[in-house]
Amino acid sequence: MKNISLTGIKPTGAPHLGNYLGSIKPALELAKNSNIDAYYFIADYHSLTSVHSGTQLSSDIYDVAATWLACGLDPDKVAIYKQSDIPEILELNWILSCFCAKGLMNRAHAYKAKVSENNNDGRDLDHGINIGLYCYPVLMAADILILNSDVVPVGADQLQHVEIARDLANAFNHHYGEIIKLPTAQERGDKLVVGLDGRKMSKSYNNTIPLLVSEKKLRKMIMKIVTDSLPPEAPKDPKNSAIMDLYRMFASASEIKSLENQYRKGIGWGVAKQELFEVINREVSPFRQKYNFLMDNKNEIDRVLEEGARKARALASKNLLLIKEKIGVK
Ligand code: ADP
Ligand code: TRP
Repeated sequence: MKNISLTGIKPTGAPHLGNYLGSIKPALELAKNSNIDAYYFIADYHSLTSVHSGTQLSSDIYDVAATWLACGLDPDKVAIYKQSDIPEILELNWILSCFCAKGLMNRAHAYKAKVSENNNDGRDLDHGINIGLYCYPVLMAADILILNSDVVPVGADQLQHVEIARDLANAFNHHYGEIIKLPTAQERGDKLVVGLDGRKMSKSYNNTIPLLVSEKKLRKMIMKIVTDSLPPEAPKDPKNSAIMDLYRMFASASEIKSLENQYRKGIGWGVAKQELFEVINREVSPFRQKYNFLMDNKNEIDRVLEEGARKARALASKNLLLIKEKIGVK
């Protein structure tokens, strides 16, 4: 039997270059491994902890699905589905929460970060924290354990959550035997993409370059990358340039060498940014066409997601049945 690899994508707005290089591209690379059965899902109920507009959530779901499909996710090889289409996840969520010590949630990073933000701002420590956010890691454990996943490819920020999923599987198995498989986290690359202002590119910093916008918008965003005020003829250090760092992630070895040379001789920032635009646009323009097609034909996205859900549900319901038998409700 093949190993199951599972990963979740939270729909929270248009994916940017950081998401593409740090998450989408490596995850699609991993899915090419023919020794695994890959499941990628859209974690829409996780987004509900913070997105409380139906139109927003619905549009983010389509955006994320269309982006992954446009970037090359092959639905014949990878099951892609919406978390909310698998009700078994919510049943397991409850079951697991009855095996989850409250202290474990107190120690979860995302919750702790919110509490410390409230503390620093002199607010009530519980301000803006709903139970969904507090119990976020239990739902994530349910996503993972419902399929008896073997490996979970995630970014470094999600490692603690996979650890919690293992803790909950252990807590359950302690009472009922080796029923739930213990998943292993697989940390994805270490590429950190820097945003327009020099900080980590992130939707929360409003410093992103969106992945699949029009050519015109892409060029405009790239031109906004903050640089120093050296004149064009001044030699520049290719090792210390956000433009060059991003260029390396899209260009060929010879292109990189040539731009590095231009840096050392002296290059205007406008010219360097245009070079950057060219290589990014070359890679993303085929995706853009497919993305636009899918966004104009959402029924096609619905069809793919329903098909993925059928496959995931078949496995989820089989696994849940055994768990329900063990706890004595079946
Ligand atoms: P954001 O910070 O914009 O809200 P998310 O938290 O939704 O982004 O990111 C989803 C995944 O995309 C992360 O788990 C991480 O793997 C990847 N990612 C996000 N931003 C970056 C970045 N600047 N550089 C590299 N990878 C990133
Ligand atoms: N919490 C993850 C994130 O913010 C998304 C996610 C939800 C996930 N459930 C998952 C990732 C299960 C891997 C496995 O990026």
